[in-house]
Amino acid sequence: MSPGDDCLDCHSGGEAKAWTVAGTMGHQGSHLSITDATGWSFTLRANKVGNFYTAERVTFPLRVAVDGQPMTNPVQDGSCNRCHGNGPGSGGGGGG
Ligand code: HEC
Ligand code: HEC
Repeated sequence: MSPGDDCLDCHSGGEAKAWTVAGTMGHQGSHLSITDATGWSFTLRANKVGNFYTAERVTFPLRVAVDGQPMTNPVQDGSCNRCHGNGPGSGGGGGG
């Protein structure tokens, strides 16, 4: 549950509740907008430590944007922190 952790490493249906999309946004109140492959879209808001999560069923790949700033590439993996080590502001690139 620490910001920056790979949430879906644990939250995949064992003792921890399964999330479909989860990660760390950086700061409280940030908005993550998600549009799934069927065109359905919704918004998540980061909690006080910057984490966000949902158990909504989504169809990958997703289109995402944080506070209006889109990720150019479609997202194939709901665990954002696998690539974004410390939230989307940290640059992505698989380096995190
Ligand atoms: C090392 C394993 C692990 C990681 C990594 C992890 N969690 Fe958890 N999480 C758990 C376990 C186990 C529970 C259930 C027991 C508890 O509540 O302490 C839990 C509970 C939660 C809950 C409460 C769920 C509920 O409704 O009862 C939330 C919310 C949550 N985690 C969010 C996250 C987010 C967001 C991330 C990534 C930033 C994350 N977790 C990363 C293991 C993990
Ligand atoms: C497979 C690795 C990977 C995953 C998983 C991933 N991203 Fe990214 N993300 C990237 C890369 C690489 C970039 C820079 C290129 C681009 O925009 O496509 C990026 C860019 C972004 C940006 C644009 C701002 C920035 O920091 O460059 C946002 C916002 C973002 N990602 C959010 C997310 C969210 C939210 C998730 C989870 C739903 C997610 N990403 C999952 C690799 C990933």
